[in-house]
Amino acid sequence: KRPAGAPDRSLARPVGKVGVVGAGLMASQLALLFVRRLKVPVVLTDIDQQRVDKGVGYVHAEIDKLLGKKRISPDEANRLKALVSGSLDKAAFADADFVIEAVFEELSVKQQVFAEVEEHVSADCVLATNTSSLSVTEMAAKLAHPERVVGFHFFNPVAVLPLLEIVRGERTGDAALATAFAVGKQLKKSCVLVKDAPAFVVNRLLTRFLGEVIRAVDEGTPFEVADRALNPLGLPMTPMVLLQLVGPAVALHVAETMHSAFPDRFGVSENMRRFVEAGKTAVWTWDAEGNQKLDPEVAELWQ
Ligand code: 3HC
Repeated sequence: KRPAGAPDRSLARPVGKVGVVGAGLMASQLALLFVRRLKVPVVLTDIDQQRVDKGVGYVHAEIDKLLGKKRISPDEANRLKALVSGSLDKAAFADADFVIEAVFEELSVKQQVFAEVEEHVSADCVLATNTSSLSVTEMAAKLAHPERVVGFHFFNPVAVLPLLEIVRGERTGDAALATAFAVGKQLKKSCVLVKDAPAFVVNRLLTRFLGEVIRAVDEGTPFEVADRALNPLGLPMTPMVLLQLVGPAVALHVAETMHSAFPDRFGVSENMRRFVEAGKTAVWTWDAEGNQKLDPEVAELWQ
């Protein structure tokens, strides 16, 4: 059954090669998913060789884990590894049909990335963004072919979480959208079409509940109490553990986007800002026995 709002699948173009811009937390997970499900060449790029090597190394290590769990055969593992490569040069995307970016969450950075990619790819190549909250329409605005841009928003851990938010920008064409849905299906994700609105749907909800936990702590409720208050609902992770998984800097960016768009509905915690500016990534730590403890510096930062 065609997902609600998806164009006719006959408009979808085949994808024989994928480019991934960025080799960080999300990008490397995306490279793994694409190679595993599409079984086509996947090229990762980043700003320096160390990052590229780390991204390719992550994909290879995860393929080894799949082999260890007997989910794939040794032949398949070798085939998949051979399909993944890294490059510092976006010219490596020349024959790609689908390029996805998962770089720093800043509109101008993403616009620049797409402008550079567009110099190398054919007019038909789809440009997808894994943005958490930014406008897909604005990301496409200055391109020669804005109709090729589509939002393709995954959730961490990418290999496990089934949801994929597909975003139609104001100028997204039917062929790009149909290709996005076809690729989403090949990736075995549950695709939903969402409006190009700040933080789409899921991150808007997440920002609300993460924000309210942080607000409670700002107001004096201990972390232990505020973060565990929702445990009876059976969520797989408490909000602040989820914040660590997503990355506090990303969560802050999303909160700031929401605050700019809806200042009366979403605030940004100054304590949270100081936490991110201090380079902190953990609220909770776990000892060797798996006991969860509040990071000692966090309490200080919140004073
Ligand atoms: N990366 C890759 N795989 C992971 C992983 C990770 N970080 N964490 C867990 N997994 C895999 C495990 O390998 C295991 O796979 P297997 O079945 O093949 O062996 C499977 O997930 C289950 O793991 P566990 O049994 O160890 O752990 P849990 O059952 O506790 O599940 C979880 C872990 C899936 C991470 C679960 O806690 C969960 O769903 N948490 C909520 C995550 C969430 O809500 N993410 C959304 C964040 S928002 C976002 O990303 C959007 C962005 O724009 C901000």
